[in-house]
Amino acid sequence: LALSNLQAYLGELGAPTPIPTFPSADPVHNPNDVYRSYIAAALEKLVDCDRVLLYESLQRPSTLSKGDLVLVLPRLRLKGVKPSDLGIELASKFPALGLVNPPVPLESYLQFFYSPKLLPRLILPFIHDRKESYSKSIAPGQRKKAIVEFSSPNIAKEFHAGHLPSTIIGAFIANLYESSGWDVVRINYLGDWGKQFGLLAVGWEKYGSEELLQAQPLKHLLDVYVKINAEFKPEEAASKQARDEGRDTAEIESQGLFAERNAFFKRMEDGDQEALALWKRFRDISIERYIDIYARFGINFDVYAGESQVNPATVVEVESLLKDKGVYQEDQGSWLIDFAKHGAKGLGTAILRGRTGTTTYLLRDVAAILDRSRQYSFDEMIYVVSSEQDAYFQRVFKTVELMGYPDLAAKLKHVNFGKVMGMSSRLGKVELLSDILDKCGSAMHDVMRTNAVKYAQVSDPNTVADTIGITAVMVQDMSGKRINNYPFDINRMTSFEGDTGPYLQYCHARLRSISRKAKAAGIDPDATDGDIDYSHLEDDHAAGLLRIMGQYTEVVDLAFRNLEPSTILTYLFRLAHQLSSSYDVLQVVGAPEGHGAALARAALYENARQVLGNGMRLLGIKPVDRQ
Ligand code: ARG
Repeated sequence: LALSNLQAYLGELGAPTPIPTFPSADPVHNPNDVYRSYIAAALEKLVDCDRVLLYESLQRPSTLSKGDLVLVLPRLRLKGVKPSDLGIELASKFPALGLVNPPVPLESYLQFFYSPKLLPRLILPFIHDRKESYSKSIAPGQRKKAIVEFSSPNIAKEFHAGHLPSTIIGAFIANLYESSGWDVVRINYLGDWGKQFGLLAVGWEKYGSEELLQAQPLKHLLDVYVKINAEFKPEEAASKQARDEGRDTAEIESQGLFAERNAFFKRMEDGDQEALALWKRFRDISIERYIDIYARFGINFDVYAGESQVNPATVVEVESLLKDKGVYQEDQGSWLIDFAKHGAKGLGTAILRGRTGTTTYLLRDVAAILDRSRQYSFDEMIYVVSSEQDAYFQRVFKTVELMGYPDLAAKLKHVNFGKVMGMSSRLGKVELLSDILDKCGSAMHDVMRTNAVKYAQVSDPNTVADTIGITAVMVQDMSGKRINNYPFDINRMTSFEGDTGPYLQYCHARLRSISRKAKAAGIDPDATDGDIDYSHLEDDHAAGLLRIMGQYTEVVDLAFRNLEPSTILTYLFRLAHQLSSSYDVLQVVGAPEGHGAALARAALYENARQVLGNGMRLLGIKPVDRQ
């Protein structure tokens, strides 16, 4: 996979060597950069313009009908030349390059189409040599470290619509960083501390059952919490009303469940052994279950952290830094920051330490950042949390800055997403992540049963239904831009038609089946260079596929910049559609064009499958081989 091998190979194909170099070119990793480098080097001789700017003005157009690369002429900012005239001139002078057809000027673009003759010779061995690592970059020298914090449910509370996208998108972002050569730490920051835990403990005394806790811990803790919370609601409402009317809430909060809740949480914060022992049991037993559920997604957290794990000494440190900087102020017994006073008007005020002396969500988050920067010395930390917490994270980051750590604040990033609409109304009561997955798995199983012939061939339908059901949920979640809300629609997402998860899985399984059948007929889908006669892959269908396959690295790089799973998914569907329209034309077993064509096509499909599978795995989807 070294540059020298690539050079030598390109030399064999008739391209001049060495490959011209440009600062951002990465030809070993991205085949488009091979083309870019040669095209830019040829253009350099024709136009008086900075060569790096030339290189960077060669862009991937929105659709392949406009070219594989286009030179965006206005970007060259040449004085006194009309871009369209320049395009015509450059097209007439452009030298013959084996890699591309003669360029085509169109308005302010100069379009380049890859030569169908060279395409298979370059792209197929490129992918075949790299397999799983096609698109992965091998970070030279010092690797960077990223923390990706995602999922982060609250113990004893429902796994709400916000945790599902966090889990799916967060896993993707972690994979994406890893495949871009970063070291990644996956952290689940559990909601395992705070007053709600005090309330749960109060509820446990009234409604807890050891037996139920052992049998179904997540469900039982949730039931207990729901019951006690219902009793607590009126007290909470009374306090809120008092506050809204500007009355003192101290009296209301010093009685009833309010007082019991706060007292228990205070005991926890003060290190009371008995209180902590109960809390620890709930936490441990919940994590045990979480591990199994995340495994269904193929997710493995490096750390189950949580609000409880924040170092108390760091909390004290944060507060004293804030006091020193004069940004921390006392107000009726609580401690807060008035952001407006410190150059952040829109952020209002935030309480960091409550009147009873206990820490808040915000204070714990800020302290956790200091803890993590010391423990991991990360280069970037990404929080994958719903857009409902946009303002909250602005406050967290601003607080880190005000505390005197602007460089640390600059490493923090909130990746947000919109709402999943109507999950509970469509699935019935869903409270736990496992409920969501079970329901999608069984809906998938129903869909699979409707095709009796195929169903009979699946050896382990339960597992397959579970995997495809999870794929269905994931693909629905990742189809749009992160920030958009989307409806949770179980009928649509479990359909094999349209751009759904099951369709993607179908496509992968079909390619596997093509390879199996080819092998059985003595055609090796894993054939390498010397054995394949590439002249069988110069037609439009093969070229259409190869052109898409060659773009994968570039698509991954784009996704790394915008952190949008839909960037990858849209690409995979383009690949899948191109494949669907090729099967009838490019036959393998029994191809009328004979064994040579069959062998070349088998290799084409097998490498297309590799790209599809790489993309699915990057998204966190486990490709199935049969379904
Ligand atoms: N547990 C929180 C919730 O359910 C999400 C935690 C997000 N992460 C953080 N560092 N605050 O809303």
